[in-house]
Amino acid sequence: MKNDIAKILISEEQLKKRIREMGAEIARDYAGKTPTMVCILKGAVMFYTDLLRNIPIPLTMDFMAVSSYGNKTKSSGEVEIRKDLSTSIEGKDVIIVEDIVDSGFTLSYLTRMLASRGAASIRLCTLLDKPARRAPGITLRSDYSGFVVGDEFVVGYGLDYAELYRNLPYIGVLKPEVYSCE
Ligand code: IMP
Ligand code: MG
Repeated sequence: MKNDIAKILISEEQLKKRIREMGAEIARDYAGKTPTMVCILKGAVMFYTDLLRNIPIPLTMDFMAVSSYGNKTKSSGEVEIRKDLSTSIEGKDVIIVEDIVDSGFTLSYLTRMLASRGAASIRLCTLLDKPARRAPGITLRSDYSGFVVGDEFVVGYGLDYAELYRNLPYIGVLKPEVYSCE
């Protein structure tokens, strides 16, 4: 698996340090509240569990699975709900935790959908942001953003290529020959 990685973009140490800072910032902003932390499966799962251990205030957890990609490296622009939340978010302060903002389709769709269910507030927390790839007309901004990355396909720490590489402990870039079977 490691042999498929061309370079490490964000190391385990860098992830750990930044996620600690993000957790502290969320804890400060939500002091006195009990936010509902919504994990977008599967990509955000590593980030989510590490982040939540760094937020020392009361909170609740819920999970959602969406699909916009299939096995391709480009977004289709369509978002399908594969697994919905198991609790009501009416009147709740929701924080959506996602791995990466790419075209922005997924998060703009989810934000609109969860807002229509009557959440008191909705903020976005994303580990990675690829601003260069935002789709025309989408002006999505993450409230808590870990790292900005360039226009490269990244894997590891939850992010996959064709469902693989999620278990790498760092964020890396695949060697070009790995995609050659596409
Ligand atoms: P968006 O709707 O285009 O913003 O796509 C967001 C989703 O696409 C993320 O939740 C990821 O699952 C996937 N994605 C976008 N860029 C990458 C990447 O570089 N590596 C792995 N998955 C990606
Ligand atoms: Mg995802």
